[in-house]
Amino acid sequence: MAILVCGGAGYIGSHNVRALLAQGETPVVLDNFLTGHRASVPAGVCVHEGDMRDPALLDAVFSAHDIDAVLHFAASSLVGESMERPLKYFQNNIGGMMTLLEAMVRHGVDRIVFSSTAAVYGEPDRVPIDEDAALQPTNPYGESKLVMERLMRWVGEVHGVRSVILRYFNVAGAWPDGSIGEDHRPETHLIPLILQVPLGKRPLITVFGDDYPTPDGTCIRDYLDVMDLVDAHLRALAYLRDGGRSVVCNLGNGTGFSVRQMVEAARRVTGHNIPMSVGPRRVGDPARLVASAARASSVLGWQAHAGIEEIIASAWKWHGAHPDGYDR
Ligand code: UFG
Repeated sequence: MAILVCGGAGYIGSHNVRALLAQGETPVVLDNFLTGHRASVPAGVCVHEGDMRDPALLDAVFSAHDIDAVLHFAASSLVGESMERPLKYFQNNIGGMMTLLEAMVRHGVDRIVFSSTAAVYGEPDRVPIDEDAALQPTNPYGESKLVMERLMRWVGEVHGVRSVILRYFNVAGAWPDGSIGEDHRPETHLIPLILQVPLGKRPLITVFGDDYPTPDGTCIRDYLDVMDLVDAHLRALAYLRDGGRSVVCNLGNGTGFSVRQMVEAARRVTGHNIPMSVGPRRVGDPARLVASAARASSVLGWQAHAGIEEIIASAWKWHGAHPDGYDR
C-alpha cells in the first residue's frame, strides 16, 4: 500500500518521503512545485504534479494507488505574506484541505497526519504551551491552519477519518548527509539566514528586536530538528495504523533559545564570527514560544533528541554543500 505525501517536494515533506522509503514504505508525492523542488524527490518515487484543489486530479491519484494513509504538508506558509494576501492563504490552504478530505471520504481512506503549527496559538497565554492553550492566531497563516484542523475534526466525527495533528514549533536542520535541506524563496527563517553570513551571501545577521521581555532581550523559540520531526510522523502513522484515536500533539524540544543564543551557537558550529546588528522588531513576533511536548511523548512515545548545535551543524552541512540550494 502507498502513503500519499501532499507537498512531498517541500522542505519537510521531502525529508518524510526519504524516511518512508528507508522504512520500506511506498510514498507517492503530490506537489504543485510552486515552492517544492523536483531534485528533493528521490528517483523512483511516483510524482503527481498539480493543484490539490483539483478534485479530478485527486480522484486520479487515489484511483491509481492503493492509498493507506495521507501525510499532508502542502500549504502556503509565509507568515508575512499571509498578512498581505490573506485570501491566498484561505483559498490555497483551506481549499486544498477540503478537496483532500472530500477525496479521502470518496475513496475510503481514513488516516491522515497533518502538519500544523505553533502559529495556531498566536501570542500564548502561558509558556510552555500545551495543546489546551488558547487558540488565537495572530495572522492568516495560523488562522488557515486552525481552520484546517477544525475541518479534520468534523470530518473525523462524521466520516470516521482519524487524524494526528502535529503542531510544529521552529523546524530546522537537514538530512544528516546534507543531501536535502531547507530552500525557501524568499528565505525568512533564522537559521538559514544566519548561515548565509559564513557562506558569504550576506554581511551580517539582523536581530529583529532586542527589547523583548526575555533575559537577553531577543525572542525565544523552540528549535526542532527536521529528523526528530520525521520520527514523529512515522510514529503518528504507526499510531493510526494501530487504531489510535484522533489526537493533536505539539512538537518541540521543550527548551527555548534566544536569537542571540542561536547566533552564538552558529558561531561555534561554523567557526565564523557572524557579525550581528540589531534592527527593529518584526511585526507579529511573540516574545517567547516554547512547547510542552508531553502529549507527543505519552501518546506517540516521541521526544526530540537533537540540540541546537546538532541542528545547526546539519543545516550547515546542507547549505555548505548547496550554497544556492537546489539550483546547484
Ligand atoms: N529572526 C531574526 N532575524 C532574522 C530572522 C528571524 O531576528 O533575520 C528572529 C525572529 O524575529 C524570531 C526568530 O528569529 O524571533 C525565529 O524566526 P523564524 O522566522 O525563523 O521563525 P518564526 O518563529 O517566526 O516562525 C516559526 C515558523 C512559522 C510559524 C511560527 C509560529 O517558521 O511557520 O513559527 O509563530 F508560523
